[in-house]
Parts: sequence; C-alpha cells; structure tokens
Amino acid sequence: MQKLYIKTYGCQMNVYDSARMADLLVPLGMTPTDDPADADMVILNTCHIREKAAEKVYSELGRLKIVKQTRARAGKPTVIAVAGCVAQAEGEEIIARQPAVDIVVGPQSYARLPQMIAEIARKGGHALDTDFPAVAKFDSLPEAHGGVGVSAFLTVQEGCDKFCTYCVVPYTRGAEYSRPVKDVLDEAMRLYDEGAREITLLGQNVNAYRGEGPSGEWSLATLICALAKMKDLRLRYVTSHPRDMGDDLIEAHRDIAALMPYLHLPVQAGSDKILAAMNRGHKAADYLRLVERIRAARSDIALSGDFIVGFPGESDEDFRATVKLVEAVGYASAYSFKYSARPGTPAAAMAGHVPDAAKNARLQELQALLTRQQAAFNQACLGKTFSVLFERPGRKKNQAVGRSPYLQPVHVENAGHLIGRVADVVIEAVLPNSLKGALRQEVPICPNP
Ligand code: SAH
Ligand code: SF4
Ligand code: F3S
Repeated sequence: MQKLYIKTYGCQMNVYDSARMADLLVPLGMTPTDDPADADMVILNTCHIREKAAEKVYSELGRLKIVKQTRARAGKPTVIAVAGCVAQAEGEEIIARQPAVDIVVGPQSYARLPQMIAEIARKGGHALDTDFPAVAKFDSLPEAHGGVGVSAFLTVQEGCDKFCTYCVVPYTRGAEYSRPVKDVLDEAMRLYDEGAREITLLGQNVNAYRGEGPSGEWSLATLICALAKMKDLRLRYVTSHPRDMGDDLIEAHRDIAALMPYLHLPVQAGSDKILAAMNRGHKAADYLRLVERIRAARSDIALSGDFIVGFPGESDEDFRATVKLVEAVGYASAYSFKYSARPGTPAAAMAGHVPDAAKNARLQELQALLTRQQAAFNQACLGKTFSVLFERPGRKKNQAVGRSPYLQPVHVENAGHLIGRVADVVIEAVLPNSLKGALRQEVPICPNP
C-alpha cells in the first residue's frame, strides 16, 4: 500500500480535479493520507491567480524537500508532483527553482499521471506534461470512487474565452469546453447514488455552458431543468459571468425550486473606465439592470461577488464607483482582492500601476463595507425558516451541521439522524461565522436512509 497526500489550492475546480487525481491513483494502490511525512507521493494542486497564491507553492515545496530528504535517509522514496495552474503556467521553471520536484503536470494532462510515475520509476529524472491534448480531459479521467459527500462538485465546463486583461485562467485552463450532456447526467446520477443531495455545477464560466445534448446544444438552464428531476437534490452553479446570464437561466431561478437562491456573480469593479480596461464587456449599469432582473425573477435570491481594487489606472473616483455599486447591490458575501500583476497578461503591461498603500486603503474600505453587508444579511436571517441540508455531525452530541440555501453553516440540536437530508429549521441565533437553529418539526427517523 502506498500513501498519497494531496494539497489543494485555489478554486473549487481544483478541489474536483484533486478528487479525480486521487481516483486515478487508486489502481496503483495509493490511499490518501493527511500527513505528508507519511506519503510516498505528494501532489500540490496549485493556483496561479495571484502572485501570493503562486508563491505559497514554493514555500510548501521548500518544506516538502526536507520531508523528502528525511524519508530518503530512512530508505523511503517520495515522488513530488506539482499539478494545477502553476504547473501549466510555469512548467519547467518549477523544476529549475525546486529540483526536489519530480513531476509537473498541467490540468489537461492528469490522465497521464500514472504513466509519468512509471516513467520516472523506470528512468529516473523528471517528467513534465503541460500539453493541451486533443483527447478531452474528462474522457480519460476515471469515475468517482466513493468518498462522495452530501454536497458534491461536478465540473461541467472548463476554460475561458473571456480574456479579462488581469487574468491567467484563459492561459492555464485553455479555451472554453463544455462536457456533453450525457456525461454530466451520468456523473450526477453516480454522485446521487453515492449519497450526494446537493450538486454544485462547476465551470470557470459555467453559465457559458453549451453541451452537446440528445437534441442539439443544451444551455446551463436546460441542464439544470433536467437535473432538477432527481428527487431531493439541490443544485447550485459557480462561477458565472454577467455577460452569459441568459434569459432561460434567470427563468430557471424563478421556476426551479431545487436551484438554490444564491448566485455568485462577480463584477470586479464599478467604474466603466476600469471595466473596459479589464475587458469585462459590460458597464456598471448593465450589471445593475441584470441584478434587478434576477431579483424580479426570484425575490429571495442573495448575491455574492468578486472585486479587484487597484487595477492599473484606477483613480480614487473609479474606486468610489465600486463602492457605489456595492452599496446599490447589497451582497450577502463577497471576495475582494488587491490587483496582482500576472506575467503575460495584458494588464501587467498597462500604465498607471497603483501604489500598494492606495491598494491597501481601498481594500480595507471595501472589505469593511462588504463585511457590514454580510453581517446585515446574516442578521436578517434571524427568525426565518430555512430548508437546511445536513452534511455532518456537530461537535455536541446529537447535533448536526447543515447548510442554508445561502451556504451559511447552520448548527441544529437533535438532528444527528438527519445527515444527508433536508429539514425546515428556524434560525434562533446569528453567530460570527454560522447560524444556530431548531428543527421546525420533528422529522421522522428514516428506517432506510
Ligand atoms: N471565472 C471567474 C473567476 C476566476 S478567478 C470569473 O470570471 O468570475 C477568481 C477571482 O480572482 C476573480 O473573480 C477576480 O476577482 C480575482 N482575480 C483574478 N485575477 C486576479 C489578479 N490578477 N489580481 C487580483 N485578483 C484577481
Ligand atoms: Fe478570468 Fe475573466 Fe475568464 Fe473569469 S471571465 S476566468 S476573470 S478571464
Ligand atoms: Fe487558481 Fe487555476 Fe482556479 S489559477 S482560481 S486554480 S482556475
């Protein structure tokens, strides 16, 4: 038996990919471990989105090099692989910077991992694959092998054709690709059979999904309608681009109860000048109109977003426009980042880079506002009844922890028997990072859960 340690950075797609890599290595006799010192093989599944994310990988590799040396002294070899977006973006440079790395494998080449492992075992040295092969990634990856939680991810679309000027994703994940409908439905069925009662459909631009279906191309909305036929299955999708928010998807939010009323719809900035420089392809007013239409379709929908402060050329006035947009929308939660220049992206070569002090001040102000909005949103949940999907036991006896439709963790007493099921919960207290609730009615214990 060999032990496998995977550390995942970045977005949910990396979480999904890490699980697929683990599945791929099961036939090689590898079982997961949480301890890198115990691992015969270590995979870092990396993120290149901001400089800090990429640099973290090198400090981790420095630590792993020492682990590898210690293990070698005890006669135990260790294979270190770097996967994900840093692997794709930096390729051989990674091995030059950290020779303890044995394998560098980009997100489109995971299916080749077993071969690469065999190759270095046979010949020694390093193995590198950062091609975008003609064979579709998903056709060559194995199906999920157990370990599926109550809430599961399912990648339906990968890659991005939007080329926002700050972003590395179109380069690290390649062009937009949608998986065929049948493959998605089959995988959803398998996840369901293994106990998943919530599926989050993943894609870098998931709402640009255009999958080959039984009768022509399916949109994300068509796919959601089909998946919603599965009993007691909740659905989510992430991440969406405002430009791809089709009428049918907005209508799906109105018509499909299984589709959770929570939408991650990043806008990045509120100034039209900056939105144009970012190549986002829409203006602030377009986004606000879109939000209005979505809310008209589903009044209880909550929004989350992503923001970048200090994009090249961003003036104080531009930043004020971002603040104004956030005030106008009112987010239930949001991520905000300081602009980070990424090698090879158009924005990195733009004039007007904003000094770090100004970026810090803007980020602080924006985050304070977003935190106030999130607190207000959570506070407004007090006394409401939510359908909660229970995911795991709580710390206290017979307590269970679930998620509200808005992804807030909810702690509930006397709910230990409800893992994997949905129940109505009245929210009784708002805690800093979660909610506390009570079952509205006693739910009968299911004899065959
Ligand atoms: N596909 C998603 C975003 C993927 S990256 C989308 O289009 O919304 C996640 C977030 O990281 C982005 O929304 C953006 O806010 C942030 N981001 C991307 N590149 C960045 C950069 N160079 N500097 C700072 N933040 C960045
Ligand atoms: Fe990056 Fe823009 Fe594509 Fe999102 S839409 S992945 S931010 S290029
Ligand atoms: Fe990071 Fe790649 Fe995801 S750069 S955010 S891991 S697509």
